[in-house]
Amino acid sequence: MSTTIYYFTGTGNSLKVAKDLSGTLEEAKLVQICRKNIDNIDSDLSEKIGFVFPVYFSGLPIMVKEFLEKLQINKNAYIFAVATFGAGSGISVKQIENILNKKGAKLSASFGIAMPGNYLVMYSPYSEEKQQQRFKKEEEEIFKIAPIIKDNIAINKNSNLIANAIGEFIYKNFKPNDKDKNFWTDERCNGCGTCSKICPANNIKIIEGKPKWQHSCELCVGCIQWCPQEAIQYKKSTVKRGRYHHPNIKVIELFQSHRD
Ligand SMILES: Cc1cc2nc3c(=O)[nH]c(=O)nc-3n(C[C@H](O)[C@H](O)[C@H](O)COP(=O)(O)O)c2cc1C
Repeated sequence: MSTTIYYFTGTGNSLKVAKDLSGTLEEAKLVQICRKNIDNIDSDLSEKIGFVFPVYFSGLPIMVKEFLEKLQINKNAYIFAVATFGAGSGISVKQIENILNKKGAKLSASFGIAMPGNYLVMYSPYSEEKQQQRFKKEEEEIFKIAPIIKDNIAINKNSNLIANAIGEFIYKNFKPNDKDKNFWTDERCNGCGTCSKICPANNIKIIEGKPKWQHSCELCVGCIQWCPQEAIQYKKSTVKRGRYHHPNIKVIELFQSHRD
């Protein structure tokens, strides 16, 4: 059975989950959701299709929404979604269901996996101990989820009206594009270009040896989290904070598919 797993990631949590799942499924193809792939989108005739993504402001990253809306999909496929998050999946699954339903397709199953929260703009990285707890839990969750997906088992989801209303309210305030005007570099920036290479939105140009954000930001915080010099800051709040990215994902894995 042909399987494609699409993933969006800023700091590697969702890529780790996507890789772990693909390892349990035969012939699973992993495809990154990024600007370049959206602009060259193919239709997907796979029999099993998965989406793995981080939750932003209770909902989907803007690019994931755009990707789902544009993707022509095999309507009879077994389709599953896996949200990664710090606290909860919010309305992200409902958003996917709505998009698929408009295409005449159906979400067969959805799952949520708690990972270290990465929203450095608001809080410091989790302690090493808490990160390790989440990584262990992730492995346990994959162990539970994998056979469900492998056997195409459908799972009914319960909807909580109050939680949905709160989620909708939070998501309305998610307008990431020009939030990148708050990024700046300190004296440690050596123009290495890592930020530009990993940006899934192709939103960072290196001009005269320094990154310049182009205002089509997804706020994935990959640039600030992966900078080898820790030279990127967001307003003043990040100056004294540590940095986080998934320890089992190499930065080069984020370079791969979206660069020419
Ligand atoms: C802009 C932004 C908003 C976020 N909003 C939420 C949220 O509403 N709820 C939540 O539980 N986690 C939230 N998070 C945390 C991420 O969903 C979580 O850390 C995720 O696993 C990151 O995945 P990644 O490493 O693949 O990018 C947010 C992170 C970012 C960067």
